[in-house]
Amino acid sequence: MLRISRAGLSILALLAASWVVAQEARLGDHPASLSGYAAVYQENCAVCHGDRLQGAAQGTRLIGIDLKHGDSFAEISASIANGFADKGMPAWSQTMTDLQIKNIALFVSETRSGLDYADFKYDAPFSLPTQTIATELHSFTSETVIDGLDPLPFSIAPLPDGRILLTEKKRGLSIVAPEGKQSPYIAGTPRTYSDTYILAVKQEWGNGWMLDVTLHPQYEENGWIYLHYGDRCSDCNEFSHQQNRRFQ
Ligand code: HEC
Repeated sequence: MLRISRAGLSILALLAASWVVAQEARLGDHPASLSGYAAVYQENCAVCHGDRLQGAAQGTRLIGIDLKHGDSFAEISASIANGFADKGMPAWSQTMTDLQIKNIALFVSETRSGLDYADFKYDAPFSLPTQTIATELHSFTSETVIDGLDPLPFSIAPLPDGRILLTEKKRGLSIVAPEGKQSPYIAGTPRTYSDTYILAVKQEWGNGWMLDVTLHPQYEENGWIYLHYGDRCSDCNEFSHQQNRRFQ
């Protein structure tokens, strides 16, 4: 049974959000492919840092060790932007835009942590961390608030009264009470579709999903809630509206 905790959900939501940002940045800046920055790395960096970040004659190792100039995303970005002229590393801010530097820093950072976009761990069993997790800003532990959600929850937005707005991609928007009781799916919100297809790389794809939910910064005064969803177009061909579509 899937167990999702308040903390667990927020992590999933954050991961999903950062993936979307990363994907948009990459697609916007380098339309070739999601892994476009792997190619940028090979072209510009591999000669010194090795084709797998393992280091080479002219450049240091970038993987499997603590970095000398800092491991955080901000520090890696700064290393790339400013370079180390005395050691032979060019300042890439001379030839790359801020966005390109961010993307290549993301590539280095994700490769260091073993993230692989071709492996979505779609059918990996869910496991809830039991130990205290320390992050840059807070330490926290996980606590189970609700069981039995769709395997694709997407986002949460805690309400000021302690209830939690929850989106599940294929089911919709609901409200989870502090003691874990889930409301019926909220009527009048965009329709969601539950059919998906699994790509060969074990990645679940679909369209017409409920995605992010967030409160307006002045929610308490104006009551605004923002929803982000995938629209299954209303003026497109029949195929787009069929349930249980499959790639042949
Ligand atoms: C001409 C060789 C050369 C090229 C090309 C080069 N680097 Fe470097 N880079 C170095 C050297 C040498 C250092 C080590 C600086 C030091 O020891 O202080 C370094 C350091 C770094 C660091 C900091 C490592 C640490 O331990 O803190 C990062 C991150 C980095 N490079 C990323 C890149 C990326 C990304 C590219 C391609 C866009 C790139 N480098 C291209 C030579 C190079």
